[in-house]
Amino acid sequence: MKLKYLGHAAFYIESGSFKALIDPFLNGNPQATALPEDFKDISHIFVTHGHGDHLGDTIQIAKKNNSIVITNFEISVFLGTNDITTHPMHIGGRTNFDFGRVKMTPALHGSGIQTPDGMVYGGNPCGFVIEVEGKKIYHAGDTGLTMDMKLLEDENIDVAILPIGGNFTMDIDDAVRALGFIKPKKVIPIHYDTFPIIEASPREFNDKVSDIEVIVLNPDGEYIF
Ligand code: NI
Ligand code: MN
Repeated sequence: MKLKYLGHAAFYIESGSFKALIDPFLNGNPQATALPEDFKDISHIFVTHGHGDHLGDTIQIAKKNNSIVITNFEISVFLGTNDITTHPMHIGGRTNFDFGRVKMTPALHGSGIQTPDGMVYGGNPCGFVIEVEGKKIYHAGDTGLTMDMKLLEDENIDVAILPIGGNFTMDIDDAVRALGFIKPKKVIPIHYDTFPIIEASPREFNDKVSDIEVIVLNPDGEYIF
């Protein structure tokens, strides 16, 4: 399985014909080195919440690729009015797909969708446990530290993808505490340095983490496992 970081909270995952994006914020993302048109045959797009730096270029990419968007019920309804095919899920739900299994996990955050007509309700924000080839990736989405993360220990997560930038989400210290709950094999820090307000040092994060391998990916960096 190939995991490619696209900057901020965005990832590309590839495993055979499963070619997926998570939170594809590319246009307007100062860290992104890829553009929506760079992606071909995107089968699925995961959206953790309605904020622009996560919903991002979902509509454009989904339309061009006929992708299925996996997101919460409320964002699914919003995307459905834009002629996008969706698979709605909700917090705590797990579903089998042809590529593997997905569980939607809680996130403590907001999810409003900014539109020219004002803010549209985007339901509860979420994270995802994505299981492909028997390996589990946990993308936390935007979230503060929650005790609920303790429940993820039983999932035996291979790679946890956690925000460390603070202000809108967990900062470094809280992400370290989250690791104590989740106990993944490896962790990839995200959601930092995109904007001045979320500056954080992945080196400091690495120094504070013990017993778990920290994988720091530059935008466009890949991790194959
Ligand atoms: Ni957000
Ligand atoms: Mn965000």
